[in-house]
Amino acid sequence: MRKPFAHQQGRPPARWRGSRRLTFAALSLTAVLPLRAENTNLTDEVRLLREENALLQQQVKSQGAHRRHLDLIFKASQRCRKIVQSLLSFARRHQPERKPVSVNKLIEDVLEIVAYQLRTSNVEVVCRLGTALPVVLADGHQVQQVLLNLINNARQAIEAHQAAGRITITTETSGQSVHIHIQDNGPGIPPENLKRIFDPFFTTKEVGKGTGLGLSLCYGLIKEHGGNIAVTSQPGQGAMFTIDLPATEGTQTVDSNAKSSDTSINHREGAGKKILLVDDEDILLELVRDDLQHHGYEVLTANNGEAALRVLHDHPVDAICCDLKMPGLNGRQIYDWICAGRPDYARRIVFMTGDIINPSLQYFLEQEHLTCLNKPFPLRDLRSALKNIINPAVRI
Ligand SMILES: Nc1ncnc2c1ncn2[C@@H]1O[C@H](COP(=O)(O)OP(=O)(O)OP(=O)(O)O)[C@@H](O)[C@H]1O
Ligand SMILES: [Mg+2]
Repeated sequence: MRKPFAHQQGRPPARWRGSRRLTFAALSLTAVLPLRAENTNLTDEVRLLREENALLQQQVKSQGAHRRHLDLIFKASQRCRKIVQSLLSFARRHQPERKPVSVNKLIEDVLEIVAYQLRTSNVEVVCRLGTALPVVLADGHQVQQVLLNLINNARQAIEAHQAAGRITITTETSGQSVHIHIQDNGPGIPPENLKRIFDPFFTTKEVGKGTGLGLSLCYGLIKEHGGNIAVTSQPGQGAMFTIDLPATEGTQTVDSNAKSSDTSINHREGAGKKILLVDDEDILLELVRDDLQHHGYEVLTANNGEAALRVLHDHPVDAICCDLKMPGLNGRQIYDWICAGRPDYARRIVFMTGDIINPSLQYFLEQEHLTCLNKPFPLRDLRSALKNIINPAVRI
């Protein structure tokens, strides 16, 4: 366990000393990150990577090592794209704006950015997002920046102290305010530090590891929104940060289940649905599982046919996504087993294949009215196939 030590890094500029309030203009991430808005050609480079990768994917038809490496590059470039986008959106100077925003949507978007880091740090996130919350009049970028800082702090505290942990994010409304609670089960904050926690440059991280500016930035931004931020903590029992933001006048209600108008992720798309994902390629299992989980599905995985049957024996599922060609039991044999033993699942399968479908396979798929996606497929195609299977009523 890494033992943190308290120190005040450097000395704050005179005008900040004794004051918690830092304006966004005084302390934007542009000052911290050597990244400028004109670096947007980074986005073009990443796009180029993805497009070239897609072209190669089409040319490399075999299942072998090349294909695995291409999948890996695809996944890495996806992640780069998100990182570049989020860095740019945070680093870009822009006039603070006030628009009606859904707090739940901001949280979902931030979780999308940090999902990978949280997962690799063994930190699970539990969201208890209130439904029908009023919107708040806010600068969405700034509120996201606050959420990001709080989630990162919680993750870092957990990581420095224990092997795994949990962050619980709750939203609710009372009176004219929307409340966001970010609670972790990390080491907590000693009482003597609680008093200074929002002070600029207060950090317990090693020199070079933390600026001590994160929470003072949060404090300044939330105050600028006419809101409030506070913390409670019992040492050894984690910390809870609470943000209160004023709800807009003439409160509009936002249904957090409603499909957003842009292309961003709907984290509740698969809520309450359990999927069995079967593929012998671990990288693909991981890629598809992550995507489905981001969209709210519960995902069980099996990397061979025999394991898939064991899962089906032990767990009820809503749908099965299954690779056709696998060593041992292949997709078609799994389908035969299902028809014989669990015919209720026969209409709940989506096949995936990296092979050219030969005429007899084509005939089989057509005869049985089965859906088969050719790899590499856009992940949204798989999700839409799943939706059709799970809710046949909405089938077009
Ligand atoms: N969830 C938390 N659990 C335990 N300690 C926390 C938590 N959040 C913040 N702290 C404490 O508050 C201090 C200040 O946090 P702040 O975000 O301002 O700076 P930092 O995290 O140290 O540096 P930076 O944000 O630049 O990485 C941290 O060093 C840590 O000691
Ligand atoms: Mg911090």
